Amino acid sequence: MIPVNEPLLNGNEKKYLNECIDTGWISSEGPFIKKLEEQFSAKNNRTYGVAVCNGTAALEIAVEALGITKGDEVIMPAFTIISCASAIVKMGAIPVLVDNDLHTWNMDVNQIEARITPKTKAIMVVHIYGLPVDMDAIITIAKKHNLKIIEDAAEAHGQTYKGKPCGSFGDISVFSFYPNKLITTGEGGMVLTADKTLAERCKSLRNLCFLPEKRFVHEELGWNMRMTNLQAAIGVAQLERWDEFIGMKRKMGKLYTSLLKNEKGISIPVEKTSYAENIYWVFGVVSKKINETAEILMKKLAEKQIGTRPFFYPLHLQPVFKKMNLFIGEEYPNAEKISKYGFYLPSGLALTENQIQEVAKTLKEILN
Ligand SMILES: Cc1ncc(COP(=O)(O)O)c(C=O)c1O
Repeated sequence: MIPVNEPLLNGNEKKYLNECIDTGWISSEGPFIKKLEEQFSAKNNRTYGVAVCNGTAALEIAVEALGITKGDEVIMPAFTIISCASAIVKMGAIPVLVDNDLHTWNMDVNQIEARITPKTKAIMVVHIYGLPVDMDAIITIAKKHNLKIIEDAAEAHGQTYKGKPCGSFGDISVFSFYPNKLITTGEGGMVLTADKTLAERCKSLRNLCFLPEKRFVHEELGWNMRMTNLQAAIGVAQLERWDEFIGMKRKMGKLYTSLLKNEKGISIPVEKTSYAENIYWVFGVVSKKINETAEILMKKLAEKQIGTRPFFYPLHLQPVFKKMNLFIGEEYPNAEKISKYGFYLPSGLALTENQIQEVAKTLKEILN
């Protein structure tokens, strides 16, 4: 089986993990946490980094830290992971959707202004599958309407928008370090900000809101969303290979592109836009044939021992949100289309050139 994702853990990961064990620092106290926070924020041109237990937690902390609360509205793409919307819904706030663009698969920035109401507090930007959202357009709208920007760069480690790192644009930005991400810590995440007060608030929220001067006394409720030193040790080792990993992703994307670009039955990721070159966090394909849905093609690939993953399921169709009477009667045709026809091919860092050739050859045989 060619797995859909396999991380590369053959740098200093074992050495640093051994250090944790030898020194006894295995909890969320320990030197690797601070190192990871400092090094990761420096890579992304941000002053403050707050390491947390996963990307979903990073979103929840970000939303709470910005003071988004009951009745507030936050605009986000219809095509994204549930974590984006659940962070809003759990605060009692309301996710307001815009459709995605068929070309880049990212949120259609032209639809945002029409969705703004007096209750809108923020735009949640999600860079999808390796291409950034058009941030200039977002920043202009946010400034004009006095909205905060929550930037979800979980899938955009190492990517830039007009030369500046993704994750450096939001009032608050979040990352995931799940093993399919460029940099992994097993489970893990990070909140980045340039605002000291917001950073302090995030640190407090991740650690049960202990009063600094009086431990075990709480004026507010937080969570235990701490990252362990063990996770951070892996992250520090991974970060040493940041540039190498970015190069590998781009190489993978270019090879898949050269092998699949003449296939009439599928769309493949956009190579570049006026503001960024694709980093191919994953190599997605969208079937153009009405009766060849992602489900059918993925099944055929699985029969040939090739692992794949479906694209996100649109937020407005999620059964959990239907039960909450959210998004009733709303339609986002592009999100529905890419979700029904899109899936991604093996894209992990451990993937070899031969495996990419094999995947492309098999997909072509199935398509033809
Ligand atoms: C865009 C995006 N945001 C948030 C998350 C949630 O991250 P995690 O899986 O670490 O909770 C993911 C998932 O991996 C993601 O792709």
